Amino acid sequence: MAYDVNEIRKLFPAICQTDGGKHPIYLDSACTTAICQPAIDAQLRYYTQFPGCVGRADHAFGNKATECWNGARETIARFLNAASPNEIVVTKNTTESINLLAMAFPFCEGDHVIISDFEHNSNTLPWMCLRERGKISLSFVKTKPDSSFDLKAFRTMVESKRPRLVSVLHKSNLTGVSFPIKEIIDIAHTNGALVLFDAAQSPLTSKLDVRALDCDFLAFSSHKALGPSGVGILYGKFALLEKLGHCLVGGGTALWISKSKGIIFTELPWRLEAGLQNCPGLMGLAAALGTIQDIGQDEIAKHVITLNEALTEGLAKIPSVSILGPENAASRGVILSFRVDGMEARPLAKRLNDEYGLMIRAGKNCVHYWFSTRGGDDVLRVSFGPYSTIEECEALVSAMEAIAS
Ligand code: ALA
Repeated sequence: MAYDVNEIRKLFPAICQTDGGKHPIYLDSACTTAICQPAIDAQLRYYTQFPGCVGRADHAFGNKATECWNGARETIARFLNAASPNEIVVTKNTTESINLLAMAFPFCEGDHVIISDFEHNSNTLPWMCLRERGKISLSFVKTKPDSSFDLKAFRTMVESKRPRLVSVLHKSNLTGVSFPIKEIIDIAHTNGALVLFDAAQSPLTSKLDVRALDCDFLAFSSHKALGPSGVGILYGKFALLEKLGHCLVGGGTALWISKSKGIIFTELPWRLEAGLQNCPGLMGLAAALGTIQDIGQDEIAKHVITLNEALTEGLAKIPSVSILGPENAASRGVILSFRVDGMEARPLAKRLNDEYGLMIRAGKNCVHYWFSTRGGDDVLRVSFGPYSTIEECEALVSAMEAIAS
């Protein structure tokens, strides 16, 4: 069936709203996607029908909340093709998932971690902080000039450093480029290392099959996957999760505390989910993942590439514009970052918002390490969702032509 963006837009109330007859033009979905109606409905169901606590109460609200929580965890496990729902740990977001792993991983003296120089701060800072505390040593594998992954440099680094863990992005939030996930896993595993993927930018356009990939750990966020804010996932192979220590402890993580025997921890994944959890949020995420699958990740990918190609072609005609990353729009997927000679990115983004009603991001997009090592000014970043349209791309090109002239 043909991709009907107008039908798809009806699922997103924030996108459909009008002000003076005009719809908002939201081109910042790599930061936060608009939430879909099924995810809103799922949360509303919790708040209006059974606003109880998960896993702690035997009353009607508590039982229903626990049932929905378990159901949502199963949906997420299926979405990733995990072997069991017990491999799905619920967190606040990708950042918390990576921090959890960094804090709870059983590092030993002399352990080495490899990340790339193109990671989001949330996959850079946890490892830099561990290094500062003397827990690990750390290397950054350099990406190529177009920001693609340098497999040859990676292989050489892995063979010489023999890391315990490799933690890299799947899709970049700055250029949209995809790292070769399968090859990275193969090289790491051959050399005895485990791999964590920061898949924050992946769920909309990539089918993530953790078993086919033989992926050890993977993190993503609900708010970049058509779901509510405040929910994230850490996937881990069960046998590896069992080896993790603790990051946060408290309610839900202990079965019993005894003066003589110490702490008896709960089973996985509850042991890693301290405190009362975000049940409506997880229900919302499960509903959002259903919406992604209903629309189809391959269909979303094709749609956003068509938009990216059109926008690339339009912006490339403006001599002062330069696009970051690979020339080929298909390699950038949902993202198009660019600079304009002689214009600062942030004031320009503000102008696009204030004068043209175009919402795009500007700045370093939390990829500070790469900016600090490669230099370069802030960028403007356009990013698409399944609801983005060709007319929105045309509006941006017209605005940029007017501004640049
Ligand atoms: N990771 C978010 C972004 O790239 C904040 O916009």
